[in-house]
Amino acid sequence: MPRFAVTTPLYYVNGLPHLGSAYTTIAADAIARYRRLRGDEVLLITGTDEHGQKIQRTAEARNIPAQQHCDEIAAEFDRLWHLLEIRYDRFSRTTSPRHSQIVREFFQRVWDRGDIYLGHQQGWYCVGCETFYDESELLEDHICSIHHKPTEWRDEPNYFFRLSHYQEKLETLYAERPEFIQPDFRRNEVLNFVKQGLKDFSISRAHVTWGIPLPNDPDQTLYVWFDALLGYITALLEADETASLDNALRKWWPINLHLIGKDILRFHAVYWPAMQMSAGIPVSQQVFGHGFLTKDGRKMGKSLGNVLDPYDLVEQYGTDAVRYYFLKEIELGQDGDFSQTRFVDIVNADLAKNLGNLLNRSLSMLQKYCEYTIPELEIAADHPLRAIAEALPEQVAEAYDRYHFKQAGSLVLTLSQASNKFLETEAPWTLYKQGNRAAVERVLYSVLESVRIAAILLSPIVPDLSLRILVQLGYTLDSIDRLDWAMVTWGGLSAKVLKHSPKPVFQQLS
Ligand code: MSP
Repeated sequence: MPRFAVTTPLYYVNGLPHLGSAYTTIAADAIARYRRLRGDEVLLITGTDEHGQKIQRTAEARNIPAQQHCDEIAAEFDRLWHLLEIRYDRFSRTTSPRHSQIVREFFQRVWDRGDIYLGHQQGWYCVGCETFYDESELLEDHICSIHHKPTEWRDEPNYFFRLSHYQEKLETLYAERPEFIQPDFRRNEVLNFVKQGLKDFSISRAHVTWGIPLPNDPDQTLYVWFDALLGYITALLEADETASLDNALRKWWPINLHLIGKDILRFHAVYWPAMQMSAGIPVSQQVFGHGFLTKDGRKMGKSLGNVLDPYDLVEQYGTDAVRYYFLKEIELGQDGDFSQTRFVDIVNADLAKNLGNLLNRSLSMLQKYCEYTIPELEIAADHPLRAIAEALPEQVAEAYDRYHFKQAGSLVLTLSQASNKFLETEAPWTLYKQGNRAAVERVLYSVLESVRIAAILLSPIVPDLSLRILVQLGYTLDSIDRLDWAMVTWGGLSAKVLKHSPKPVFQQLS
């Protein structure tokens, strides 16, 4: 069975999860669900990045121990993932004792390779980014261009990682594996950055106590990125396994896909592969950098006070609506906008009307005209809906394979749109009045079969809605995970008397 391991970033716990974190996680979950549907053995890894000064200060401001703060926020992430139907397999926390062991072993390997040395770090430090900047990278008065907050001058001994040694090796990696960084335009950004020449970067901090102490110098703690990226490895350990790199890397390494936002591309596409090379482990297969969400055309951020609360959004509109909008309306990779009006319009048009209403109307007719019985019949190969439905799986698979959810969703909608039209032109209510029961059955079967196929193809995006549709169609599925790709074959809707009375599967939003 092919294996597929996909990661979300490990989220900072300085605050509650926001819509940006939810966005990456929803997309990763949809990818994982699609791979499961294709029959892969899948590992979806998410988790939290819990060390560093930013988190230490947040806990201090709350007047509680840092670990307690991390535990509380990590639990909030977990709660949100359940609300959003995120079916993750591993939740990696960087404050777990097993993680420190993995980090120490990894550090030792890089140390033994001669890639770590003691140097001196001077520069402007943004606690929000946990990054040093050159003066030229900052706004006036040394303000961080991302957080719009003042940076702090630091001048301290730090250990450095010899990133400069990996310049050529990284360039070879990018040339030999063009799919390593996706989408292509982001790949170009990274290539341009690397071409300017890579500088060693400091991997320890002298004044941060909330972190993993350096094995060779406990006065310093490890830089959050040199710690957090390894959380992807720790996540691979089985529950009862001893924490060692060999154990962790045995089954799932190399990771197939790191899904991240564009702001952290450099860490994943430059630092991380160099660290892996240094530790002598194969490089992850792919890094995909998605775009940023804006609200009503403006960047979404705490400083602008226009962040959307994912809990509120789910509570108000439900999981399917939220997942659908962000995956179907925004091209993964591009920036995307959230506007309430557009959200409500799109979701109503596609899920409530186009798909939900189609099912509801057809089932009501089946109940009225055919004793609520799905007939046993063969639909001709040149039937217009069958022709679309048979061509669809391959096209949709190609879209999902490239993480083009927007395209996958649009393709599936062509089937429900065609079905709606078909219902109007064939008018089963007239056929019924004419006493043509056989024709009524053919029309309703072909529409219901189209809805069934559409539901399965959409299940990575809207798993709950798909499940509700399939249950209405007589499936006794306790979980959407029981689906498999073979079920999208035309003719899979089997003859039976339905049990659940027609009931809208998706409520109109207002
Ligand atoms: N802790 C690091 C990741 C370490 S991975 C080993 C981190 N955490 S984060 O919580 O700040 O960000 C996590 C993810 O949220 C990133 O992929 C980031 O791109 C995403 N988003 C944060 N704000 C966003 C938007 N406004 N829009 C879309 N995603 C954005 O970075």
